Amino acid sequence: MSQGAIVDRGDAYRRIAMLSARGRKLLGVEHAILGGAMTWVSERNLVAAISNAGGFGVLACGSMTPDLLRTEIRATRELTAKPFGVNLIVMHPALADLIEVCGEENVGCVVLAGGIPPRTAMRRVKELGATLIGFAPALPIARKLIRDGVDALIVEGTEAGGHIGPVATSVLAQEILPNVPDTPVFVAGGIGRGEAMLSYLEMGAAGCQLGTRFVCAAESVAHPDFKQAFIKGAARDAMPSVQVDPRFPVIPVRALQNEGQRKFIEAQHAVIARWRAGELDQKAAQLEIEHFWAGALRRAVIDGDVESGSLMAGQSVGLVKEVQPTADIIRNLIDEAADALIRRAAADLSAAD
Ligand SMILES: Cc1cc2nc3c(=O)[nH]c(=O)nc-3n(C[C@H](O)[C@H](O)[C@H](O)COP(=O)(O)O)c2cc1C
Repeated sequence: MSQGAIVDRGDAYRRIAMLSARGRKLLGVEHAILGGAMTWVSERNLVAAISNAGGFGVLACGSMTPDLLRTEIRATRELTAKPFGVNLIVMHPALADLIEVCGEENVGCVVLAGGIPPRTAMRRVKELGATLIGFAPALPIARKLIRDGVDALIVEGTEAGGHIGPVATSVLAQEILPNVPDTPVFVAGGIGRGEAMLSYLEMGAAGCQLGTRFVCAAESVAHPDFKQAFIKGAARDAMPSVQVDPRFPVIPVRALQNEGQRKFIEAQHAVIARWRAGELDQKAAQLEIEHFWAGALRRAVIDGDVESGSLMAGQSVGLVKEVQPTADIIRNLIDEAADALIRRAAADLSAAD
């Protein structure tokens, strides 16, 4: 179908399908929407719901053991016959074993996250026959990952929830999309509506990855209080963690502000004061700072401790208004994109009159 030929809703859906054809084909799905893996949230129920709704669910392995991952993959298969992927964090001490589990369980797609993946891990995922997806926080890294054999990239901007880089999604998309035309790229970070998805598809993305928008899915096992925090949260409440001293780096994590965030600042000052007084060496002080958040995401997501737990959320949290079935969230996204195309076609027509 040629540009500007949108007459009705069917045309609009076909245009979206055409724009996302590469992503849909790669993942084997109806809609090129990846449910970004979220530790504790992206377990069997949400992953299966996203895949059953025509998107691509991705299991978050987080700190699971290989045995637990195997159980979760099998349990997800019980809930969906559709394809889904597994997200592995590259710093996981059992990364090699987790990759073997994915191979043994015939996982069709592995996303290597949380850093630049080691070549050995990338090679093994490919040997096992899975589609390999990596994160590219800058163009040189995108090029390196392509050379090392990724089948697709995720480009995630600073608006995203969880661990973040410094650059906005819109800028990364401009930096990377035009320069890697032969590699499917999924854009992530700050996408909460279909119009934004459409704009990245029109820039050349193969699809989009959304996390925050799926937290309040009816099928998500996140605690009702965690979901309420998302429903109440505005974009400006989802802020990166604060580092008080450059000598003690803090990995930036975007999360809703709560008592935990405030205590983290106090805790950093207290640890650094002990280091200054000679009570701790630099390494021990750094470790204490890093351990502050241990278990905090689980406490928030599973136990509903929204005061001191970690409320990882992206800026698109302001667009989350209610608990909704996953299929409705995906339908809304596609309909918003289709409405935008229809509105544009109507405006073009009236301008031509
Ligand atoms: C609660 C939460 C946990 C997350 N955990 C992970 C994770 O374990 N691995 C990962 O690669 N990304 C993780 N992310 C990032 C998401 O997979 C996704 O890329 C991101 O949410 C997309 O941006 P958005 O939140 O603006 O939609 C997490 C995000 C959130 C909100």
